[in-house]
Amino acid sequence: MARVAVVGSYGVGLTVELDRVPEAGETVVGRSFRTDHGGKGSNQAVGAARLGAEVDFLTAIGDDAFGRAALELWQDEKVRSEAVLADAPTMTAPIFVEPSGENRIVIVPGALEQLSPVHVDAFADRISVAGICVVQLEIPLETALYALAVARSQGVRTILDPAPAPREPIVTEVDYLTPNETEAGAVRGAGGTVVLTLGEQGARLGDRLVPAFPASVVDTTGAGDAFTAAFAVGLAEGLSDLDAVRWGCAAGAYMVEHPGVVPGLPTRAQLEEKLESVTA
Ligand code: RIB
Repeated sequence: MARVAVVGSYGVGLTVELDRVPEAGETVVGRSFRTDHGGKGSNQAVGAARLGAEVDFLTAIGDDAFGRAALELWQDEKVRSEAVLADAPTMTAPIFVEPSGENRIVIVPGALEQLSPVHVDAFADRISVAGICVVQLEIPLETALYALAVARSQGVRTILDPAPAPREPIVTEVDYLTPNETEAGAVRGAGGTVVLTLGEQGARLGDRLVPAFPASVVDTTGAGDAFTAAFAVGLAEGLSDLDAVRWGCAAGAYMVEHPGVVPGLPTRAQLEEKLESVTA
């Protein structure tokens, strides 16, 4: 069974569907509100577990209702979590979704600000047995880069999903980067194979464009997470880079057809169905 280590965020998505986002100083009336499990790290950990990988996940949560709900989620989804209990609220993420499915996300890190390299050291034995280690940037940059360095020093391949887009360009060695177009500029100085995710056009691996799978878009939130999770599991199972990118595209297409993030992370059977919908 493929083993994946994830170092990253858990947060609660506070999603508002609305006709259009307000201008500065304006108030608009939303159509609906819901809370969802989120955080790019947790989404990717759950996504990888749904695809059949054995997943270890390092994150930080607050001593609050959101943190307790997270522990239940990981138990239900068979993610082995190492959740640092921080002296701050669990991360929240207000998300605004327009009728087109386009989303805008605000991150309030809270507990995640306390996730440090010391915690990565305590998690290093889990990283060492993984086929791949996946990191994103909703945790302190120092911690994210340290986790990548620990993995590489143990000969474990690494994926950095540089989301949200960092303010400063990232300079680090990593095996794979999975930026979208907004994030691509910030990782130009990083060494590694870039898989550029292009939304409805698919993804680019070097000079190869892997076309997107057909999808009726409902909500694009989490498409990048579904992509990275499936890409990671594909690599950990020994697929070629190109086939792993196809898995990522299929998972992303499945995600955008479902509202919310966790409900849109495909199981192995759902991923295979999506993959066959084009090859058949
Ligand atoms: O990538 C989507 C995720 O970003 C959401 O689940 C939200 O929680 C934010 O972390």
